[in-house]
Amino acid sequence: MPEPGLPDIGLFEAIYSARSIRRLKPDPVPEELITRILDAAIRAPSGGNAQSWAFIVVRDPDLRRQLGIIYRKASDIAEAVYAARGRPPHLTERQYARLMATGKYLWDHMGEAPVLILPCSYRPALPRPEALPLHIAAEWEGEVAYAERIRGASIYPAVQNMLLACRALGLGTVITTNHVRCEDEVKALLGIPDEVSTWALMPVGWPIDKFGPLTRRPLNEVIHADHWGAALN
Ligand SMILES: Cc1cc2nc3c(=O)[nH]c(=O)nc-3n(C[C@H](O)[C@H](O)[C@H](O)COP(=O)(O)O)c2cc1C
Repeated sequence: MPEPGLPDIGLFEAIYSARSIRRLKPDPVPEELITRILDAAIRAPSGGNAQSWAFIVVRDPDLRRQLGIIYRKASDIAEAVYAARGRPPHLTERQYARLMATGKYLWDHMGEAPVLILPCSYRPALPRPEALPLHIAAEWEGEVAYAERIRGASIYPAVQNMLLACRALGLGTVITTNHVRCEDEVKALLGIPDEVSTWALMPVGWPIDKFGPLTRRPLNEVIHADHWGAALN
């Protein structure tokens, strides 16, 4: 049953239509909707149920403007990388043109979204190697590399919950990571401690563009049955 006041949208409808929305109206978003999105975020799984996340909600116009400038700067690098890479073969000309056009729009308009959310997380506390059995302490570098490799996996499920919660509420958003290229500037601007990393910068607002349907590479191209390379059917 949908909750009173919420759009009646099923989970699969949300999954199939939660398109990246980069063009947003400047109209304010009620605080209770932002709380709703964040409350969905913190339902996500995290390694060891550590929940070492933090979410910065930026509404101050001057801070948004400055984050927009940093995002624009970081996007100069993205622009060069995209130009050098060209269209991926699985995207049609139309899909690629839309991606580039809306992506470029956001490069110049990030700061105009009424709300910017930065999902963050603390660096995990690792035990002292001396406290471990010798055979595990001997492999410590590998363990540290493992922890680093999976760090994002404890925040991106929360991000996905936010994408779906926004879709359910009729709000537009998109996961972006460009700002990581200039993360030091973002951290200085928002007073983020050293031990905290930012994983995304998400503009949230009422959409100008329409939701889905989403098209993706077909299942038979991406599924392997039992062994790599074996078709399912
Ligand atoms: C890890 C990751 C990083 C992304 N970074 C950016 C970004 O910096 N800027 C942007 O506009 N979109 C970014 N996107 C959004 C992707 O471009 C988008 O998910 C993809 O094109 C599919 O879009 P669709 O869901 O609308 O079909 C990112 C997505 C992911 C998963």
